[in-house]
Amino acid sequence: MRCSEVKSGRSPKGRAQRYFLLGFVAGILLVLLTYLVSQQFSISSQYGDLQFLLVAESAVVITRARRITDKQKVNNAPDEETSEHSSRFDQSLRPLFQMTRVANRNECFLLVFILFSGRATEKSKVVCNTEGSFSESCEADGDVRVHGTSLSVSIVPTRSRSSERREWRIRAHARKSVDNIKKVTVTQLPDPSAAAPPCTVTYTAVPAILFAIGGHSGRNYWHDFADVLVPLFVASRRYDGEVVFLVSNIVQPKWLDKYKAFLHRLSRYELVDLDSDAHHVRCFPHVTVGIRIDKEFTIVPELSPGGDGRRLLTMADFTGFLRETYALPRHAAINLAREQPGKRPRLLLIHRGHYRRLVNEQEIARAAEAAGFDAVVTELRGDTPVGEQALLVNSFDALLGVHGAGLTNAAFLPPGGVVIQVVPYGKMEFIARAEFSEPAADMGLKYLDYSVSVEESTLLEMLGAEHPVIKDPDSVHRSGWGMIDEYYLRKQDVRINVTRFAPTLALAFEHLRRRQQ
Ligand SMILES: *[C@@H]1O[C@H](CO)[C@@H](O)[C@H](O)[C@H]1NC(C)=O
Repeated sequence: MRCSEVKSGRSPKGRAQRYFLLGFVAGILLVLLTYLVSQQFSISSQYGDLQFLLVAESAVVITRARRITDKQKVNNAPDEETSEHSSRFDQSLRPLFQMTRVANRNECFLLVFILFSGRATEKSKVVCNTEGSFSESCEADGDVRVHGTSLSVSIVPTRSRSSERREWRIRAHARKSVDNIKKVTVTQLPDPSAAAPPCTVTYTAVPAILFAIGGHSGRNYWHDFADVLVPLFVASRRYDGEVVFLVSNIVQPKWLDKYKAFLHRLSRYELVDLDSDAHHVRCFPHVTVGIRIDKEFTIVPELSPGGDGRRLLTMADFTGFLRETYALPRHAAINLAREQPGKRPRLLLIHRGHYRRLVNEQEIARAAEAAGFDAVVTELRGDTPVGEQALLVNSFDALLGVHGAGLTNAAFLPPGGVVIQVVPYGKMEFIARAEFSEPAADMGLKYLDYSVSVEESTLLEMLGAEHPVIKDPDSVHRSGWGMIDEYYLRKQDVRINVTRFAPTLALAFEHLRRRQQ
């Protein structure tokens, strides 16, 4: 102590001010730390107490610092203006002063702040969002109890403070429009003594995500990704595996098996089949009810709850996660400037077996070769193991196919690659782009599409030039989804005019030729 006094050689007043500053900074840091800790563990009521303790401790540090400066104050006469303000302030807050025996207004401010933070730390609440155009969901904090077979989630207040009883009916599937999915009842109980089911399993520090599968997922690859994998990634990535999946509506157990590798990297815990979980009430410090689609087959970073380290999530994070999960070797498309001369980018032409076929596949493949690609025609079947298919697609730089679920495989392409969507005849651009255009761009891919003219559609031969499906696609769209689906999506094959298509292939090649790493 003496040493530092000699060294600094400053007055006691200056020292006290420095001490105060130091104390104040330390206090602020503590409060900040408290806040961060509470954010990290806001999930548990027991952490709520820890948080309160930390806040209280910060208060002590700041108050002590304050006392030291008060001793100095005697030497400094306060100027007129401040003293007038103080007295008015003192009068209005005198009752609080006396009640709490704090010495001055600064400490009073502090106390108000502490009481306020203490209040904010008490977390037993539920926030539901049912306004989204695709999904509805709730975030429940505190003492959250889940009973599987009745699909009920109860939020029990943690302290004696009672609140209003509220109830929501939530479809936990990412697409609330899907029917035949039982809704979850989310209930905020009014007080701790209200009849809450007793816990049979308590997870003290692990949150849960409750969601439904089925619906369109399981029918095709695109819906698997758009309706479950992407929304689940968004909801759970922030936990880095420390989260329990509570799954309802498991109509196809094989589906979960198919995506096992993916699911296991998002959650280290065995998933719970809620529909057969009759005998347990599982209690968590935090439960997300329902997973969300904010935009088709992509992620809106600003609306995501964050990734690891609370960074905003992007669709590029999703495809990066896929590459890690399936050990895909290529994280960037070909860079021709760095390759040996003669090396060509690889293009995968998706073969479709049933409808929306490319009638002249081989001719298109030759056109792609003429544009500078190595072209391969392959069928991408939905029943191939995901990892196997992912590896295959990852070895290409460009993916070409008629609008359909096969293009979902773009998620396995290395970033910087190209997706070419062939849009069938019938004013289908809007639908086709909604499913793949922005998703591809968000994955870091170049998106191109090619709209089929009526001459390239087999519908022309089939129906004749005078049929409304040919002459007036608008009338078909006005008539509803049934006709669109029947004609433009199911009865149509495509014979691409390779002369007309050549500029699109040239654009794709140009993109790969020009890209820099
Ligand atoms: C193919 O497209 C080219 C360029 O648009 C056009 O000139 C040609 O007539 C088309 N061929 C057929 C068979 O429609």
